Formats: sequence, structure tokens, C-alpha cells
Amino acid sequence: MTVPPSDSVPSDSAAFAARVGAGERAFRMLLAARGRAFRCRDGTGLGVDETGCAIETDAADPRCVLVRRDGTWDPVDGLAAEARAVLDLYLPIRPPGAADCMTVAHLGQSLDGQIAAASGDSYYVTGPANLLHLQRMRALCDAVVVGAETVATDDPRLTVRSTAGETPVRVVLDPRRRLDASRRVFSDGEAPTLLIAAEHRVARQCARHGLAEIVGVPVRGGRLVLAALLETLHDRGLKRVFVEGGGTTVSGFLEAGLLDRLHIAVAPLVTGRGRPGLALLERERVADGLRPAHRVFRMGADVLFDCDLRAAPCADRDLEPRRVL
Ligand SMILES: NC(=O)c1ccc[n+]([C@@H]2O[C@H](COP(=O)([O-])OP(=O)(O)OC[C@H]3O[C@@H](n4cnc5c(N)ncnc54)[C@H](OP(=O)(O)O)[C@@H]3O)[C@@H](O)[C@H]2O)c1
Repeated sequence: MTVPPSDSVPSDSAAFAARVGAGERAFRMLLAARGRAFRCRDGTGLGVDETGCAIETDAADPRCVLVRRDGTWDPVDGLAAEARAVLDLYLPIRPPGAADCMTVAHLGQSLDGQIAAASGDSYYVTGPANLLHLQRMRALCDAVVVGAETVATDDPRLTVRSTAGETPVRVVLDPRRRLDASRRVFSDGEAPTLLIAAEHRVARQCARHGLAEIVGVPVRGGRLVLAALLETLHDRGLKRVFVEGGGTTVSGFLEAGLLDRLHIAVAPLVTGRGRPGLALLERERVADGLRPAHRVFRMGADVLFDCDLRAAPCADRDLEPRRVL
């Protein structure tokens, strides 16, 4: 999938279509439509104009991408397969006009369940299509959350670079304040950044760590109370939250029942014992495990499980056919 730089402004719709491809156009429509109110009557169509802005159209307009049917947004008939796959995957994350809160987590893991080698090296477990997916998820969400160990090991930027959209607020869980202010998220000024520390380690309001704002969150049993963290983010208008890793952080959100969706990308790779992905409390029987409703997407050589943790669990072996991104 070829993606142009996000700052390229096309001069007309034909050039736009030729340059970005159907999938990226559909993605940009979702981006442009986020947070905007539409009439949302059945029959309303949404498209993207030559400058990448979301517009109301009728379903027959060639620029139309989504149409409102029976109270939900559906891809318009006859859409290119690539655009349909993009909408299938991202429409539940950011339906046009939705104002409610959602928390989604992602991990990219090997066949043997590892998200990094024992040294912490994780470049790269999954391939370029999944890395583009991560940037699209950042762009669709208001905040991206990572644990202290990910910042300590990877020194990530957590920016949006390879697709359209803006970098969301970056949120680092560093309860003990162990990370140095020279880390890129705290020093590059690419986007607003919050350092989340245990409440008792925050001396005063409006304290800063490098360019980041320090925010105190209550602790229970030695762990940050993640429900309180989400409340703090929501109060700041950060309603769509993307938890990008690592395994400890995603497991905490999952165990606390705070995730609406979970994306697990499995790469055809065996790393040997390294840093584990999900690590939840023991369950006595396999039958006590989670078996979430899910869809399956192909991303290059990787396979993404998109689990809907708010839907009824799926029946044993109830796999949907593969879709291709
Ligand atoms: N493949 C992927 O998808 C992916 C994604 C991201 C990262 N990674 C890799 O994964 C590794 C890091 O993952 P990880 O699981 O070891 O660590 P992590 O999740 O990045 O960070 C865990 C740390 O964050 C803090 N933390 C997170 N949740 C907390 C809570 N509820 N309460 C208190 N503190 C909390 C704690 O910091 P303290 O230790 O200070 O208490 C905890 O030890 C790195 O090697 C990185 O390269 C892979």
C-alpha cells in the first residue's frame, strides 16, 4: 500500500485519487469526519472532496464512501475492495459523529507469544502493513498510551508520520518517575505529552518533566488505578484512547476490564523466550478463558485479530473468513 506524505495537498480529485489510492482515501474520510456532527438521517452519504475534507453527498456521487442505512454507517455499494477493508477495520474505532469514549489496545507478537526479544529488542516483530496500522490507530485516537519499559527500551516517538492525521497526546505510565527527561517523548516537542506518575510522587500541580506535563493518578495495591487514569484523560477531552504496549500495560487494562477492543497482530516469527505479550492471572480451566467476538484481517504476512470485548463472546471455533488489508 503506497501512502504519500500527510502534508501533500492534492490539486484535484483525480490527482488525489491517483496519488492516495482507494484505501487511504477511505481512511482520510474517517479522519476528516471525526468529531464532526452530521445529519445522520438514513440515506445520508459521506465522501471526501479533492482537498481531503469530509463532505455530505448522496450515495450516487462518485466521491461517496459511506452511507447511512438503518441507523448505522455502511460502505457504499461498489467501493473498491481496499477501501472496504479499511472501512471494515476502522469504522468501529471512529464512526463519523461518535462522541463516546473508547479504549483500544494493540500488541504485535510472534507465533510463540513474544512482543520483543529477551533484550527488549522489538524491531520489528510485525511488518510494514502492521506498522502503518499502528500509525493509523494513533491518528484516529486522541491519546496513545505506553508503559515506562517501552519508553526505556525503545525511546519511541509515537508520532504519525506515514499516513494522514495528527499525532495524538502521548501518555507514558511512569509511576516511579524513573524515566529521564531526555527521552524523545519528553523532549522532541512533537505533540503534547503526559507523564502519569503515582499521585504521591507528584509534588505540585503543573509540574513538568522535560516538555511533558506530570499528572498524578491514585495507586491501589502498588499499581496505578487505570480506571482513574482513563477518567482523567476523558476529563481532558481525550476520549478515544489507544494503548500501544507493552505487554504489561495492555495486560493491566485487559485485566481491569477497561478495553473495548483488543488488536493482536501475529507475525510468522518465532523469537524464543523474550518479553511476553498478554500475561493475565491464572485460570483453572481453558473454558474460563476469554473467547471474544473477533474479526480477522490480513496485514502483509501478519494476521490481525480484532477482538470486540463488549460483544457477546463467540462460540468455539466460530471464525469469520479472512479479509485482506
Ligand atoms: N510488539 C509490540 O507490540 C510492542 C509494543 C510496545 C512495546 N514493545 C516492547 O515491549 C517491551 C516492553 O513491554 P513490557 O511489558 O516489558 O513493559 P511496558 O508495558 O512497556 O511497561 C511496563 C511498566 O509501565 C508501568 N506501568 C504500566 N501499567 C502500570 C500500572 N497499571 N500501574 C503501575 N505501573 C504501570 C510500570 O512501570 P515501573 O516498572 O516503573 O513500575 C511497568 O513496569 C519492550 O521490549 C518494547 O520494545 C513491543
